[in-house]
Parts: sequence; structure tokens; C-alpha cells
Amino acid sequence: MSLTPNRGPFSDESRPKFTTASLREQKLRHEPITCLTAYDYSTARLVDEAGIDVVLVGDSLAQTMLGYENTLSVTMDEMLHHVKAVRRGVKGALLVADMPYGSYQIDPKSALRNAARFVKEGGAEMVKIEGGEKRAELIRQIIDAEIPVAGHIGLTPQSVNVMGGYKVQGKSLTGIEQLMRDAVALDRAGVACLYLEGIPREVAAMISAEISAPTIGIGAGPECDGQVLVLHDILNLTFAPPAKFVRRYGDAAALITNAVRAFRADVRSHQYPADEESYHLPRETGAALNEVLARKRAMRR
Ligand code: KIV
Repeated sequence: MSLTPNRGPFSDESRPKFTTASLREQKLRHEPITCLTAYDYSTARLVDEAGIDVVLVGDSLAQTMLGYENTLSVTMDEMLHHVKAVRRGVKGALLVADMPYGSYQIDPKSALRNAARFVKEGGAEMVKIEGGEKRAELIRQIIDAEIPVAGHIGLTPQSVNVMGGYKVQGKSLTGIEQLMRDAVALDRAGVACLYLEGIPREVAAMISAEISAPTIGIGAGPECDGQVLVLHDILNLTFAPPAKFVRRYGDAAALITNAVRAFRADVRSHQYPADEESYHLPRETGAALNEVLARKRAMRR
């Protein structure tokens, strides 16, 4: 196996580092922000080297990487393990760590400690927190501790039990009003960007026009200041039918299955490894070994 230090086929050594300041600059320039999830070193490198602006270690790794039913089970330590791996693979992109369920809802002190762990131990440059205006004060405190925060409103998967399922939010006038209040409160609290998930396009457009923080949408239409998708969704690695907003850009499931089947078939039919895939003794050692074996055979006769 080789994971060489070269930066890969799509790497751009001259690429400027994407920072929290770049988020605002791109919004002002009307230049869409690109964001994808990554959960390990190799995919982080590929995503970063392909030029994506923001790499999110989302708590969606609970399902995509760990096979949990939803995001509620994943722990701080599990998240940190993945953030550290992604940190080693990301150079140019901004690295965002998702605060898992239970890591910020209990009390502000433990929320601050957990956010600081992502920065100090994981090397994250920003943390993401789900929830609207009720999280504004906590977000202020985390920003006061010099940690940039991304907000996340709309269909927030950590609220699955309260929402009664994964439902598009902001479809009624009261729902829209609440989302607007949430967005404005988080903007005033100072979020560096705001993830909008599972809300009508029209509402996302209103929020994006209203607040100064850039919005990054997932299932929130094209008027957001940027777009995020889950890497496993765009690569068909989720073992489930995709949501309406997912566009598949590749079929890694087919690629992996075909490669694994071909390997299995080659091993079972003695096609792998071939001679050129094998190591050989140096010529003199081979000759000496043959002599020893010949002497042994002669003694046995
Ligand atoms: O966990 C995640 O992947 C996310 C994105 C969907 C925004 O929060």
C-alpha cells in the first residue's frame, strides 16, 4: 500500500488556504461555496485536492461510516477520531467538525470544552451546531472562546425524535417565521456560515438574502450561497435510495463490488498473484538454495 506524500493528480500547490474570511468574501462576490463531507484521511485528501472549499466531518458519519441508525448515537470520541484523520488529509480547505448530539445540549461549560477539543485535539477550524435561536447564546460563548461556529437550521437530524421523522421544515407561515427568526438570531450571534437543510427553496432564498453570513444549503435550493452534499450520497455508498436533492456523481458501490469480485475470482482461479507480482531471491541466493535442496534430496535417497 502506498499513501505517498505527493499531493495527487488534481492538487494545486498554489491554492490559497480557504478560511472563515473566504466564506464571507465568496458570498459578497456571489461565488458559490462548495462543501462536501469527508470522514477519513484518503477521502479527505481527494476532496481537498479536487478543490472543494469546505470539508465537513459531519455527524452523518454515524450512518455512513459506523452503521448507526441515526446521528444520535455517535460520541465525541468517535467524532474526534475521524476529525483527526481528516485533518491529516486536508490542506487547502476549511475544516469543520460537527458537534454530535449530547456534546453541547447539556450545559455551556461542557459544550465549550467539547468545541475546544475539536480545535485542540482534532485540528478543526470551525465547529457546527444544530438548532436555531435557542442556541444563539451558546454560539456567542463559543465564538468568545475564539472558535468559529457554523449554524445549522431547518431539518436538523439530531431533532429527529422531536420532528417525528426527517421532514422538510418551513412549509407553513409559522414555520417560515420561525426559520427567519432562527437565521437572524444566529447571524447576530456571529456564525461564520449557516447550513440550511431540508427547507423550501423560496425560504432559503429569503434567508440567504436577509442575513450577512453565507448560507450553505442541502436540500434548500439553488439560491443558497453554497451547497453541501454527503460524499457517500454522491458516490452511491449509502445502501439506501437517495433523497430528492441528491445528485449521484459516481458509483463507488459498483466500482468496489466489481473490483472485489474480480480479486476473488483471480485468487480462486490461481490468476493472482502472477510471477511479476511476486518477490524473487537474488540470483546467487537462489543458486545456493537450489544446491542445499539438491543435497538434502540426495541424502534422503
Ligand atoms: O452531518 C452532516 O453530514 C451534515 C450535513 C448534511 C450538513 O450535517
